[in-house]
Amino acid sequence: MSDVRMRNADLDSALAEARESYVARNPKSLARFVEATAVMPGGNTRTVLFYAPFPLGFARGEGALLEDLDGRTYIDFLGEFTAGIYGHSHPVIRRAIEAALDGGINLGGHNLLEARFARAVTTRFGLERARFTNSGTEANLMALATAVAATRRRKVLVFRGGYHGAVFTFAAGGSPINVPHEFLVGRYNDAPAASALIAGHAPDLAAVVVEPMQGGGGCIPAEPDFLAALRAAASNAGAVLIFDEVMTSRLAPHGLAAALGIRPDLTTLGKYIGGGMSFGAFGGRAALLDLFDPRRPDALPHAGTFNNNVLTMAAGLAGLTEVYTAAAAEALSARGEALRARLNALCRRAAAPLQFTGIGSMMTAHFTADPIRSPEDVAGTDPRLKEIFFFDLLAAGIWIARRGMINLSLPIGDSECDRLTAVVEEFLETRRPLLAASAL
Ligand SMILES: Cc1ncc(COP(=O)(O)O)c(C=O)c1O
Repeated sequence: MSDVRMRNADLDSALAEARESYVARNPKSLARFVEATAVMPGGNTRTVLFYAPFPLGFARGEGALLEDLDGRTYIDFLGEFTAGIYGHSHPVIRRAIEAALDGGINLGGHNLLEARFARAVTTRFGLERARFTNSGTEANLMALATAVAATRRRKVLVFRGGYHGAVFTFAAGGSPINVPHEFLVGRYNDAPAASALIAGHAPDLAAVVVEPMQGGGGCIPAEPDFLAALRAAASNAGAVLIFDEVMTSRLAPHGLAAALGIRPDLTTLGKYIGGGMSFGAFGGRAALLDLFDPRRPDALPHAGTFNNNVLTMAAGLAGLTEVYTAAAAEALSARGEALRARLNALCRRAAAPLQFTGIGSMMTAHFTADPIRSPEDVAGTDPRLKEIFFFDLLAAGIWIARRGMINLSLPIGDSECDRLTAVVEEFLETRRPLLAASAL
């Protein structure tokens, strides 16, 4: 057999073994899944949670721990794709929700919390005004609608690998269910190409939408020069620069844009900022946001039954002002930086084709030792290694995203980081032959 065929056979059999052992360990998760398929397509109401042969079902969570339906415990290193920064049922969040319930929910009018929460969010992230939505997807759709209405232009520059929501994704270059804006899709971190696209389409370009680090796309940080080039070119073109900080706002005390010293026209937020409840927000320059001021005769409408729901307002306000303070953001980022450095040092020492990209408390495993600047750089990596990595970590009691994403939450401490490091070290050792062959 040739080296390549031998390597393929080895990878296939290692993966089959890992899957078999997963199936054997998780009969109750399998039963839940089979039952769910009768009423939900693929047993699923959120695509990212599915993986073959069937996803784990969880019975409960506490602090940094999760328990699956078969009674096994995991350290939660996924942190609900960044929304779960407070861990499971943080006491401060719980108290805030209980107090909100005591005051009654669904009031059908303004409550006392919404403006206080808006003040906390705008102050923290340097926004002149903000409006709330129910999800990050909605926040991005509203930001885009604002840009289109303000500029009276139609085109929108986005980047391959970007994820801005369920109907606003360029993970695979685009999606058949994307909203029908006129998208131009650029290459992430290619400043000259993006500047040329913006200049070339200037008269029709409403907005440039970019994540300052692609999150779902693999924790690929934007290079500061790239973002600076977008800022300059968007200003020259009269287009609205929108930073999608739905994930990245956690990475620095005042968001990633502020840390990089770049001011977008609009910023979108989501995930953890609602304290674990449904949340989204778009905000930024008053001149743009005030188009929604209902006192104006020509005001743009912005609706949403749950935009000011008291559970989100209460949990979000308590979380942002009492728990995930600017100082806490700094500390969590430092913990994440240290963890990623340790993991990458292990990979280098093992000469393994594995690295962890990211910033602060967010990172993603990629099975290549080559530099990664855009999603194109990881397109050719072997998906079987990532799948084996996922199943090996699960077997060792570590829960991460099937796609290799890791997000720290506040209850993750030194011992949890030590445990993850030990499990990755063991993976590098036990899977050494597979990794060595794939590095050929
Ligand atoms: C960068 C980014 N923008 C927007 C969204 C969409 O947010 P939501 O899932 O709340 O709609 C996500 C979700 O993962 C995201 O990562």
